[in-house]
Amino acid sequence: MFSSEVYVNRRNKLRKKIKSGIILITGNNESPMNYPDNGYHFRQDSNFLYFFGIDLAGMIGIIDVDNNIDYIFANDYDIDDIIWMGPQPSIKELASGCGVKNTAAFKEVFDFVKKAINTDRKIHFTPPYRHDNMILLNELLDIPIKSLKEKSSLELILGIVSLRNIKEDIEIKEIERACNIGYLMHTTAMKMAKQGIVEREIAGAIEGISLSFGTVPSFPIILTVNGQTLHNHYHGNTLKNGNLLLIDAGAQTSMYYASDNTRTMPVGGKFSNKQKEIYQIVLDSNNHASSLMKPGKTYKEIHLAASEVLANGLKQLGLMKGDIKEAVALGAHALFMPHGLGHMMGLDVHDMEDLGQIYVGYDDETRPSDIFGTAFLRLGRKLEKGFVLTNEPGCYFIPELIDIWHKEKKFENFINYTKVNEYRDFGGIRLEDDLLITENGARILGDKRIPIDVEEVEQTMNM
Ligand code: GLY
Ligand code: MN
Repeated sequence: MFSSEVYVNRRNKLRKKIKSGIILITGNNESPMNYPDNGYHFRQDSNFLYFFGIDLAGMIGIIDVDNNIDYIFANDYDIDDIIWMGPQPSIKELASGCGVKNTAAFKEVFDFVKKAINTDRKIHFTPPYRHDNMILLNELLDIPIKSLKEKSSLELILGIVSLRNIKEDIEIKEIERACNIGYLMHTTAMKMAKQGIVEREIAGAIEGISLSFGTVPSFPIILTVNGQTLHNHYHGNTLKNGNLLLIDAGAQTSMYYASDNTRTMPVGGKFSNKQKEIYQIVLDSNNHASSLMKPGKTYKEIHLAASEVLANGLKQLGLMKGDIKEAVALGAHALFMPHGLGHMMGLDVHDMEDLGQIYVGYDDETRPSDIFGTAFLRLGRKLEKGFVLTNEPGCYFIPELIDIWHKEKKFENFINYTKVNEYRDFGGIRLEDDLLITENGARILGDKRIPIDVEEVEQTMNM
């Protein structure tokens, strides 16, 4: 945990953004895997972590806006808990660690909230994403489960987003720690990517690195010779020389700050010319995007600029044709990159996606596109100093998508389908860095950038 003042300050800042009422911040509970006592690794809710910092199940925090008081409702460990899980500080002691003086048993929250409802106080809560918390909110507030999302507080969502979008220095340090763990995960994978190894052997090894320096990875590892499937979690293929191996993996520190990096490498340690050509285009797109980042630029313009670099490169190889600016504006390049350039990152790998991407990544000035590809851009808004985001252009050859577009004669004036079909078994390449927006630009987080130039990657693989 950070020091108690950090949490007191954050709650006070949030209070100032909300006109009146009480704010409920539900913590997470244990989540059973295959029977109640065999749970998934516990993951605290990120809003609870941000405002209260306590990494334990079964808690609810309340921020009373009108009376300037905060509460934690949770049960002390009883002797059964202690026998099986060991002693814990009391809830009072834990709460004092985040500057909260008022605590009570969990069941007391029902009376507390009922009183607030009976006195017509506004109850603010965020859209729940776990079913047990949906049931809890339904019982506390008497709102049907299917209406909870629409009845959640936009005022609270926007208040939280405005705080969490700007990373504090102590948060940046944690994210850098996560990036350094990510560096070790990716460079280890590069050294392991040899013919005969099964994907899961590398996935297991790098998951172990995340666990040994922090906790479980920030999302299920994507590690595949079929990188054309964007979120491929199948790890059963045996690597063969000539394959491209795409690894999208990030760590979490023990305080749950995330990293998220993607590298793509040639099994056996040497890119073919065909692979190198596409790789370099994706790398140019990545480098161009990061060179444009600074406060005041919208990420939507940077996404489009990075897409133009990609499409221009593909034109040079004969895969695209025509006016590239126009092709990108109309979305023709999305055959090769059907996703956005990046997203916010922090306590969540897709930061605050539970609150709604539209509030995190967009604002009144920048609205999402409805064009296939660009519509999947999670972050479009004007950049501000203190944003932490990912830069992850890619180029994929998805046979099923190629066939559909080809049959529809889609964008025939921009896409050379005969040439594209020569790449049907190419796979996919994505190159992803994590960056902090600074006063005048942006910098890649972590002590060292994970090897990314062709020669650097080959060198690391052959160490
Ligand atoms: N790294 C996974 C994603 O950004 O969706
Ligand atoms: Mn990402």
